[in-house]
Amino acid sequence: MEATAKKDAIIVGVEFRDSREKGDDSFAELPLLVASLGLKIAGDVFARPRRPNLRTLVGEQVVNDIKYLISTTGAQTVVFNEELKGRQRNNLEDELEVEVVDRTEVILQIFADRATSREGKIQVELAQLLYSLPRLRGRGGEELSALGGGIGTRGPGETKLETDARVIRDRIAMLKGKIRQLSVTRGTQRKQRMSRNMPLWSLIGYTNSGKTTLLNALTVAKGYADDRLFATLDPLTRKGFNPVTAKQFLITDTVGFIQRLPAQLIAAFQATLEEVRFADFHLLVLDACDENLDVKLDVVTNTLQEIEASDIPHIVVYNKIDKRDYLPRTYTRDEVFISALKKEGFDELYKQMKILEDAHSVKRDVR
Ligand code: GTP
Repeated sequence: MEATAKKDAIIVGVEFRDSREKGDDSFAELPLLVASLGLKIAGDVFARPRRPNLRTLVGEQVVNDIKYLISTTGAQTVVFNEELKGRQRNNLEDELEVEVVDRTEVILQIFADRATSREGKIQVELAQLLYSLPRLRGRGGEELSALGGGIGTRGPGETKLETDARVIRDRIAMLKGKIRQLSVTRGTQRKQRMSRNMPLWSLIGYTNSGKTTLLNALTVAKGYADDRLFATLDPLTRKGFNPVTAKQFLITDTVGFIQRLPAQLIAAFQATLEEVRFADFHLLVLDACDENLDVKLDVVTNTLQEIEASDIPHIVVYNKIDKRDYLPRTYTRDEVFISALKKEGFDELYKQMKILEDAHSVKRDVR
């Protein structure tokens, strides 16, 4: 997928009526993701089939609707919110005669565009290879999963597809090795930080909720804050000073979450996500102006569960209150309302941080 060319795209949302999974509103954020790649949305289609169509995911009628939109808008790309199997994507491309991609590929491409550090690049490449391996297409259109070739298949009878798969598998193994090394380095750095006996806070939250802005406001650092999705991919740790405890603390900013964060990314970003797992405390940052606050909070807590970091004590921080024209509801024990941009509400935030640090100081001392 070319990220730079300014092309028109049709977006397609799919909800299966027979699925027991609760519907989410991830389709609502697809335009933002697609726009992050520089694509312009020319139209959208929302389909509610009973169950997935094995050939094209959606039924013939919907494929025809998409075809019609392509012909009237001249769109050159179709983006599905649902993950497509390789075969489905190929069939759709054959029928629609334009590029077809899915939400996972869009997110992977955004990550690839944002990755600047060596660590970020390695992790994104691994995620992309994990995604593409089962989607390799042979000359006859057959897919790798249908071949049953197995790992390490070699020999004179080996097809081009199997050779490609082996090359990718070797590269995946190499990248995983590099990530293990990075993980060891991160572990050493973490031990050094812990030996300084400062509490380690980690900023967690939806992409674009204001984590980097808050990191900058709480420390003297200048992280890269930007109004775009996944601006921060690499963990960044800085020192802050809490005037209420009169003590220093460490705080890490890391990759933002989103609905249906691709499994391949979670698998590949282990080194980065370790920073979240090994923090003493979490600040869960949410955009207070977001209309779907509860959904966003659910996404964040579910993702934390997925990466086995949900039992870390946390404060929920509602950010961007400067944009709201009414007063937030009263504070509960683990919620604060702030503006990272205007540095409002920080007294309460520092107080809550102290409460949490005091409550868990015994645990920290024995570690
Ligand atoms: P990712 O790196 O994508 O995960 O984003 P992030 O959560 O680090 O968000 P970031 O700090 O980059 O901020 C996103 C946008 O929100 C930027 O345009 C910020 O200026 C803006 N922003 C952050 N905090 C506030 C705030 O308190 N008030 C207002 N009005 N805007 C804010």
